[in-house]
Amino acid sequence: TGLDAKMKAKGKKYFGSCADSNTLNIAANVAVLKSDFGQVTPENSMKWDATENSRGSFTFSGADTLVNWAVSNGKMIRGHTLVWHSQLPGWVSSIGDKATLTSVIQNHITNVAGRYKGKLYVDGDPGTSLTHCIFSEILNEDGSLRSSVFSNVLGESFVTIAFTAARSTDPSAKLYINDYNLDSNNAKVQGMVSLVKRINAGTKYIDGIGTQMHLEANGAGGAQAALTALASSGVSEVAITELDIKSASTNDYTTVVKACLAVSQCVGITTWGVSDVNSWRSGNTPLLFDNNYRPKAAYNAVITAL
Ligand code: XIL
Repeated sequence: TGLDAKMKAKGKKYFGSCADSNTLNIAANVAVLKSDFGQVTPENSMKWDATENSRGSFTFSGADTLVNWAVSNGKMIRGHTLVWHSQLPGWVSSIGDKATLTSVIQNHITNVAGRYKGKLYVDGDPGTSLTHCIFSEILNEDGSLRSSVFSNVLGESFVTIAFTAARSTDPSAKLYINDYNLDSNNAKVQGMVSLVKRINAGTKYIDGIGTQMHLEANGAGGAQAALTALASSGVSEVAITELDIKSASTNDYTTVVKACLAVSQCVGITTWGVSDVNSWRSGNTPLLFDNNYRPKAAYNAVITAL
């Protein structure tokens, strides 16, 4: 009856939300996560600044809280995110040579992905229980590589360096690349498709592409075309990884849900939070539950679309 159950009845893997200790401490929020969501993504606790703020010294308390909660409650987990130019400690951004940056990326991935390796067999299929988002946001709007310490020092080779490290650390996890503004079949989507085809031409490094879908009102019209185009890169999965929509228009939510249902490679939808009161887009009321954790009209629209 809840979002996740209805999503699974449609043959999809989950309907999820981000969470972390702050939201797992709120009883009303947890009740909704339990009843309506089948998957969680760490909102902040698995990012580089949270896990390796100083070089070689790892902190897992926040991410452990999220992972342990998910395991005890039978929820799937999407890891987020191993390599990102944002929420990245200054000691990483200031590395200037290839050999050091390569070993720093490898060490980070080995430790973070290794911590959670093989822990999660929630749905009896270890290959789909834990997915790792390796990269967030490596493209510009025109589809070219974004300038960051990773691309500036290593060029495009940082992609294969990172995916190789993740694959050898946790061979059963699905490995994803994830970006924003992949909301229609635009230049950035085309750039992503070209990048993934190029990287995967021999070895299949990348299993899936995530589109975040932080949408404005009336921004959902291109969602199905975006998912279809991303899937045309040959990846086995695509997913909507951080959905929220300004003012939570029922039409937009319906359109996005139907888009995922219509594209066979779309495995699931994750909204970027449960309640508006904890949303990173404060003032936008973009989520499915109101400030008191009560379902909004958009929730009913999603249930109907499912
Ligand atoms: C956001 C979190 O929700 C905020 O709490 C944090 O202050 C900034 O990051 N794209 C991403 C997410 O991949 O990790 C971001 O999450 C939202 C945009």
